[in-house]
Amino acid sequence: MTTTLGRTVVGAARDRPCTLVVCRGCCCGNARKHPRADHEGQLERLRVAAAESGGSVAVRTTDCLGPCGQANVVVVLPSSEGRRRGGRAVWIGWAMGDACTDDIVRWATDGGPGIAEPPPALELQVVRPPGEERRGARGRGRARA
Ligand code: FES
Repeated sequence: MTTTLGRTVVGAARDRPCTLVVCRGCCCGNARKHPRADHEGQLERLRVAAAESGGSVAVRTTDCLGPCGQANVVVVLPSSEGRRRGGRAVWIGWAMGDACTDDIVRWATDGGPGIAEPPPALELQVVRPPGEERRGARGRGRARA
């Protein structure tokens, strides 16, 4: 157990790695939607990077995350340390091609959100999570104090 800034962190949550959540729903990873992308190769590349990271990077897949128009979507979750330093989940859209995959791997192995800055090209692909868009839409038009 570790106590940090008045919060107690127990067990696995203390050491959670930077985690790449790779969407593989109806559109992401679908060769009919994106026939020129090597979806399997991308996933394999991410898994190899995680295996070689010594536990600092993890990869998992998920069903549709929502923003199919921005497929392939990869969400980069901060490690426990990254979260303690203020890092939050970053959603990457149009995550296809070797250069993008390399940038995601580089960022995650450098520490990910809260620890390392994302490569500049990756910053251009950051998309808002669906829930954030809804909250933003509700908040539009409100008067500011
Ligand atoms: S299939 Fe990935 S966002 Fe819908």
